[in-house]
Amino acid sequence: MPETLVEMKNITKTFPGVKALDDAQLTLYKGEVLGLLGENGAGKSTLMNVLGGVYIPDSGSISIDGKEAKITNVVDAQNLGVAFIHQEIALVPYLSVAENVFLGRERMSAGMVDKRKMYEEAKQWLDMVGLDVNPATMLCKLSIGRQQMVEIAKACSLNMKLLIMDEPTSSLSESEVDSLFEMIRKLKNRGIGIIYISHKLEEVFTITDRVCVMRDGGYVGTIITKESDRDTLVSMMVGRALDNYYTRTFNEPGEVVFEVKNINSGIRVKNCSFKVRKGEIVGFYGLVGAGRSELVKAAMGLYPRDSGTVYVKGEDVSKLPTMKIQERGVALVPENRKLEGLILKNTIAFNMTISVLNKFMKHFRVNAKKEKEIVDNGITSLAIKTPSGQQKAGNLSGGNQQKIVLAKWLASDPDILILDEPTRGVDVGAKAEIYKIMNDLAAKGMAIIMISSEMPEIVNMCDRLIIMSDGRISGELDKSEFDQQRILHYVFAEEK
Ligand SMILES: Nc1ncnc2c1ncn2[C@@H]1O[C@H](COP(=O)(O)OP(=O)(O)OP(=O)(O)O)[C@@H](O)[C@H]1O
Ligand SMILES: [Mg+2]
Repeated sequence: MPETLVEMKNITKTFPGVKALDDAQLTLYKGEVLGLLGENGAGKSTLMNVLGGVYIPDSGSISIDGKEAKITNVVDAQNLGVAFIHQEIALVPYLSVAENVFLGRERMSAGMVDKRKMYEEAKQWLDMVGLDVNPATMLCKLSIGRQQMVEIAKACSLNMKLLIMDEPTSSLSESEVDSLFEMIRKLKNRGIGIIYISHKLEEVFTITDRVCVMRDGGYVGTIITKESDRDTLVSMMVGRALDNYYTRTFNEPGEVVFEVKNINSGIRVKNCSFKVRKGEIVGFYGLVGAGRSELVKAAMGLYPRDSGTVYVKGEDVSKLPTMKIQERGVALVPENRKLEGLILKNTIAFNMTISVLNKFMKHFRVNAKKEKEIVDNGITSLAIKTPSGQQKAGNLSGGNQQKIVLAKWLASDPDILILDEPTRGVDVGAKAEIYKIMNDLAAKGMAIIMISSEMPEIVNMCDRLIIMSDGRISGELDKSEFDQQRILHYVFAEEK
């Protein structure tokens, strides 16, 4: 019989207008990886925030190691051995790695911070997680994957019993994911319990022992991963079976509406050229850092171009500022919703309509009815979970924030839509919804560019695939030529 490490029972938590947790429960054993699954807004992060001392529940009980746990703040949770790696990195970018590990418990001697001692100790923890960096390095110099390893090193130094990871792989490259999984297995062997939140089912099947599913703030059930399959998990999450995951009806594409010729931008974009036609979906695939986001940003004038030309519907727009390019019908949905896509302290309605103000403004007066129409339409068509359009964007769950960014750009009704990782952090049901919307838009003649790191969606949704490696376009494949081997050949083209 496995030993129980954490038991959460009857947990309820209400925010104004939202019952985020409704009689939720969870049991975690020692030395296991427990997947925590559910649709966007199901309450996963909130339940973990309760365990981590970020939120105090309205009711319910928590026990750790068989003893009732009184968790009223983050420090309580830390003292009980709870370590938490949040959906977004929570370290301080402009401090050294060592300072981040010992933040709030700096190593002192004679009333002064003892840097040498701190670096030495930090080095031991970094070695333990197999991270080969100098503890004096400034954190922001590291890749996201390495920053995450620093968070794990920090958690280890805090003597954790359990580690919560909220969508840890959303910004990691494939090799970083591999080393993260290796680390998770090591921690597991040391008896640490791990709660792993993810929307990527392949990962859940690879790394978890059991899976706990939540829906609408409540508990659905817990199952043993080996004895389960994709369809079972999906129907537990969504409450029904999802047929038709990828929707795509292929049409004969029309004329070229977007063309990029010989673009160069710094060291990340090297002499790239491509064309996109009306009604087609073109995928951009490559490793994290291959230059895909930089290329589209350079094309949109968001990054400086050293050379190259951009044509929108035949017109040379190379000299135009980004806003003028947008006005000609090009929309870019960025990958980093927190930094580029959303104003978190403003309402959903504000965020959704900011790109289309001209559609319902007349002589500087806002047409409230039109605005409401756009907002309601966005909320329904993408199934955004919120009490109303007046909710602050920052209060929504991670995946629902992503959906607002998408809704905002769809509202502008572009002819050319560029999506950078559109389904990152989005649950299975909403993914299917986004695929369906993309299909409908393409069928109506929209030209769509989709940057994605997920091979299955690229292969199933695209007419054509452009592969980038080290800043260059290393290959282009037509639908009939899609095959994993071939794609990977181009992905690693520059590394030989
Ligand atoms: N501080 C807050 N104020 C108001 N509502 C909140 C707050 N935090 C969370 N919520 C709401 O609680 C519900 C659960 O959110 P939570 O972040 O736990 O979802 P999640 O399962 O983690 O979703 P995702 O997969 O999108 O990250 C959502 O409806 C969300 O809008
Ligand atoms: Mg979440």
